[in-house]
Parts: sequence; structure tokens; C-alpha cells
Amino acid sequence: MARVVGLGYLIVNATDLDSWKEFASNLLGLQVDSFTPERLVLRMDEASYRLEIRKDDSDSVNAIGWEVRGPEDLDELAAKLEEDGYAVKRSDSVAVAARRVSGLVEFDDPEGQRVELFYGLQQHRERFVSPTGARFVTGAGGLGHLFQMVSDREKYDALYLKLLGFKLSDYIEFVPGVYATFTHANQRHHSFAYAQVPNVPSNIMHAMFEVEELDVVGRAWDKVQAGGAPIKATFGKHTNDEMISFYVQSPSGFQVEYGYGGKLIDEDTWKPVRYSAASYWGHKRSDPDEPDL
Ligand SMILES: [Fe+2]
Repeated sequence: MARVVGLGYLIVNATDLDSWKEFASNLLGLQVDSFTPERLVLRMDEASYRLEIRKDDSDSVNAIGWEVRGPEDLDELAAKLEEDGYAVKRSDSVAVAARRVSGLVEFDDPEGQRVELFYGLQQHRERFVSPTGARFVTGAGGLGHLFQMVSDREKYDALYLKLLGFKLSDYIEFVPGVYATFTHANQRHHSFAYAQVPNVPSNIMHAMFEVEELDVVGRAWDKVQAGGAPIKATFGKHTNDEMISFYVQSPSGFQVEYGYGGKLIDEDTWKPVRYSAASYWGHKRSDPDEPDL
């Protein structure tokens, strides 16, 4: 059965590309592949295209790029989405070329967030070199994970778990009766998580990038504490994926979780459980009204 196999890229709208360049390269350690007044393309591994920041009047996540295994799977998933009532656009050659992929379809999720399915991401001929010496955990696990606040959890159960083929990882009940759902598309503990929280608007709350060394996270944390970016949650360790991380605000408003040590899932033995807290220690939120996730 066709399914999504990982998070491939993110496209972000931004009013300030210079701030993004500074944030992405000096703090996160991403490599600038190209930089024009209209767009900033960033690398984190051998793939040519992982994060694109587009000059815009607004600051938001423009599109989420989910990877599938090839043209047959793309067609199968597009047909299933259409059967379920989604308007699926077969992307033109300009959109395909801009993302350096081989095939692409686009649709809007239940909140109106643009989602793209693609296959055949171009690999760069030059080795990835991080300006901070970071090495990112990608490969079969994709570029990282996303956390989305939603207004109707059941629509996301239907889209991600039933339609796109994600599997349940676990739940965190961070306030009694209110819980987040974590799902995986590969060995990474989760590629997509979502929660319906009263009085919290629906949006992409954070994107997570994982590095291979704790020291890289620690050095970035030093920079954050010296004023490198607004802190949203302090250094801490999550319960379910055991990620040791901190959260900062990106120049486009959504948060970036920068972490190390995320748990991997063995599908043969995995059993979803429920946690009563998001973190074992740390992750103290700068905004006490924000959910601890
Ligand atoms: Fe996260």
C-alpha cells in the first residue's frame, strides 16, 4: 500500500530573508545552497533541497513536503485523497523544478495548510558542509519532524493515519483530557504530531531538526542564551522520543526544536503507550500559556 515515507522538505514564507540566513546558518548549522532577494535554499545533508525560505509579505509555513517511494505511490495517494474529497493539483514543471524533485502533487489539509507529496529528490554533487560543524540525522528518517496545532483532531487521524499511511507512535496527555498524537512514517519516533488544544490557534507549532552530537546542541544553546534567538523552551528531555533539545522562535514565527538523541522505532515490537507529561526535565516554556510540547 502506498504511503508517506518521511519529511522531505519545508517551504517557508518570510518577510526577512537576511534574518533567516543568519538564524539557519549560524545557529542551526544549515548550509546555504543559494541566496537571492527572492529565495534562500538551505541544505542539511546530501539532498539538494531541504528548506526553502521565500520572500513574502507574510511569515508562515508555505508547504510541507512529504516523500513517497515513486510515481505509482504518488498516483495511488493522489487518487485516495481525491476519493476522500481533497482537491489535488498535479504540479506543473516549474513547481517540480523549483523543488528539485521528480514528481509532485499538492493539496490543502483540513486547516488549509498546503501539503505536497513528492518523489525523486535531487542529490547534490557536492558534499554537505555545515558552517557550525553540525551533522544532521536524516537518511531513512527524513529531515526531522513537525508538530501542528489543529482544530479537529479526528480529521488529522483520518488524513495522516488512515490515508497517508502514518502509524501511531504514542500519546502525550499534557493536560488532563487533552492529548497530542505522535505518528511515524519511518524509524524516527515521529515525523508528524498534532494536538487539538482549546484556545490555541491551529498552525504549525514547531519543526524539529536533529543533530548527531549533543555538543552541537549545547553550543547552539550557548548562542541562544547569548541572544542568538528568542527562547521558547529551555534545554530539556522529552518523555516519548527521549529527544534532548531546546526550542527557539524562527524568524517566521513558528518554533524550531533543535535536538539530539531521538528514539528510533522497531516496527516489529513497537507498542503505543500514553505519557502524562511531555518532558522528564527542562523544556520550561517562556510563555506559560503555551502547551508544553
Ligand atoms: Fe518536537
